[in-house]
Amino acid sequence: MAEIAIKVENLKKSFGDKVVHNGVSFEVYDKEVFVIMGPSGTGKSVLLKQISALMIPDKGKVEVYGKDVFSLKGREKIDFREELTYVFQGGALFDSLTVWENVAFFLIENKGVPEAEAKEKATYYLSLVGLEGTNEQYTSELSGGMRKRVAIARALCVNPRCIMFDEPTSGLDPVMTSVMDMLILKLKKELHKTCVVVSHDINSAFRIADRLAILWKGKIVEIGTPAKIKSSVNPVVNQFINGLPDGPITANLGYEG
Ligand SMILES: Nc1ncnc2c1ncn2[C@@H]1O[C@H](COP(=O)(O)OP(=O)(O)OP(=O)(O)O)[C@@H](O)[C@H]1O
Ligand SMILES: [Mg+2]
Repeated sequence: MAEIAIKVENLKKSFGDKVVHNGVSFEVYDKEVFVIMGPSGTGKSVLLKQISALMIPDKGKVEVYGKDVFSLKGREKIDFREELTYVFQGGALFDSLTVWENVAFFLIENKGVPEAEAKEKATYYLSLVGLEGTNEQYTSELSGGMRKRVAIARALCVNPRCIMFDEPTSGLDPVMTSVMDMLILKLKKELHKTCVVVSHDINSAFRIADRLAILWKGKIVEIGTPAKIKSSVNPVVNQFINGLPDGPITANLGYEG
């Protein structure tokens, strides 16, 4: 039986009268690539933020390697930031800092790592994501694909066990999408990371996933291996993975009860 990295139990989250999660439960195994899919606005980013304890649910529990993430205090919170890191949907880079300063930010600011040592680490992780030689550039000078890779190098720089990726391939061309897929698989196979990936890109999702979950109307409606998802008889899953215009998913998305 695989070790459980992340356990999500009965999460409920609303904003005003808008119900986003209405009992979301699932487990992510250690060292797997777990992909979360679902139509726009169904609460995928909110889910990652809750797992990362950046947002608190109304109800429910998240454990990361057995630790309740919503009860962490002081030092434990900082340690948790090294155990599980987050690559934001938009990258969330500091454009006033250089590439290496972005990557080393947490090490210098929160861990007090000396600048030279932090820079050496940043340089190593930048080369791992194929960005050698960009250290001194400002992030505003980079292409979208490069910015995404800087954000990944930053997430790797603290050597976490789990990395959460919010749409790592959105806005990328097909070649750069494959590069990103290969990078995620490399993190799993060579660095033994647990990767949770939110993706809209069906081909990419099936290429990288050990297991996938489909979020719809506040719940996980299907979960399993690519083969299981592809053969699902659930009409939401079938419509979503085949990109069909007609079905339960309409242009008016989200949770309407
Ligand atoms: N801080 C917030 N305050 C109020 N509503 C929010 C907040 N964050 C998210 N929401 C709402 O929660 C719902 C889910 O948002 P979320 O960003 O998680 O969707 P998503 O599945 O990631 O969509 P996309 O695929 O477009 O990125 C949306 O209706 C959004 O407007
Ligand atoms: Mg999102």
